[in-house]
Amino acid sequence: MLNKNLIDLGDLSSAQIDKLIRRAKKIMQSPADYRHACDGKILATLFYEPSTRTQMSFQTAMLKLGGRTIGFDNPMNSSVAKGESLKDTISIISLYADIIAIRHPVEGTAMAASLYSEVPLINCGDGGHLHPTQTLTDIVTLSCEKGRLDNLKIGVCGDLLNGRTVHSLIKTLSKYENNSFVLISTPELSVPLYVIDILEKNNCKYEFSNSLADAVSDLDMLYMTRIQRERFKSEEDYEAQKNVFVLDKEKLSRAREDMIILHPLPRVNEITVDIDDDPRALYFKQAQYGMYGRMALILMLLQDDEFMIDSAKPELSGHRCKNPRCVTQTEEYLPNYCYEKLGMEMCHYCDKRID
Ligand code: CP
Repeated sequence: MLNKNLIDLGDLSSAQIDKLIRRAKKIMQSPADYRHACDGKILATLFYEPSTRTQMSFQTAMLKLGGRTIGFDNPMNSSVAKGESLKDTISIISLYADIIAIRHPVEGTAMAASLYSEVPLINCGDGGHLHPTQTLTDIVTLSCEKGRLDNLKIGVCGDLLNGRTVHSLIKTLSKYENNSFVLISTPELSVPLYVIDILEKNNCKYEFSNSLADAVSDLDMLYMTRIQRERFKSEEDYEAQKNVFVLDKEKLSRAREDMIILHPLPRVNEITVDIDDDPRALYFKQAQYGMYGRMALILMLLQDDEFMIDSAKPELSGHRCKNPRCVTQTEEYLPNYCYEKLGMEMCHYCDKRID
């Protein structure tokens, strides 16, 4: 089903991803050429959940392209506070704006919102599910700094269960040739099964590790992540996990000189600050690459008629998704949309198995 909504980076072909990266690099080389590219256009940023980088880099991206921005970063200052549904909010905003960027704490919200939007809509994070423009940020960084997206040994470390950035990253990089993954986490915060299914389907080598010190020595890239406090059931559960993996100078001394360290940020304490000046620490530069990636994405969605995104056509299920974190639990009018995978019904919104 062809559309202009970026819900999951996995819906893009390799050619489309290459095109985005090429365009981001062109913008970096000559930003002045793009100063009026979006004159008269309006971006709405609807952030139902806190953000520094994603929200402000999208806003900056649109301003640097000559467009303007509207939106909220606290839904309680909008009519959401009066009980307005997602459907009504999106139906209205898409009459005002030319493109929408949305973040929401509930899984599947971006997909649900896209059903009611008349304009391109971008998923800026939906609960613990996906964060495609962070992955765009990561692959623009990899392409600029390593010169390739394939033949990489990638360590991902931290909260691999709740970290949506990790899920999107593995999904995308597992499609490139000869990438292998070291999944460094506690058993409690291991990657969800659906991510393992993707690695298996793409014939990717992967291994589990519970030691950052051991795993770090043979990596091309180490992707550190924060323990996602806001997704834990109790403070006690969070306390048990919060300081298990910390990258410090001693552990970094075991890594290769050409390894790069990425982190989607915000950082809490999983990377000690004395590493920030190490040339391998690229997480601040990564956030800047993200702005150029987002400029490229806005341009493709608004101006390139050939840049159509091919997402699975939904079918109606006889059952409601049972995932308590799925948007179908809070927005009751949503159709029971599903798709089929390996003979199973999967939720169209949150990608969890329905039956
Ligand atoms: N990486 C990221 O999504 O950061 P923010 O939460 O600050 O947007």
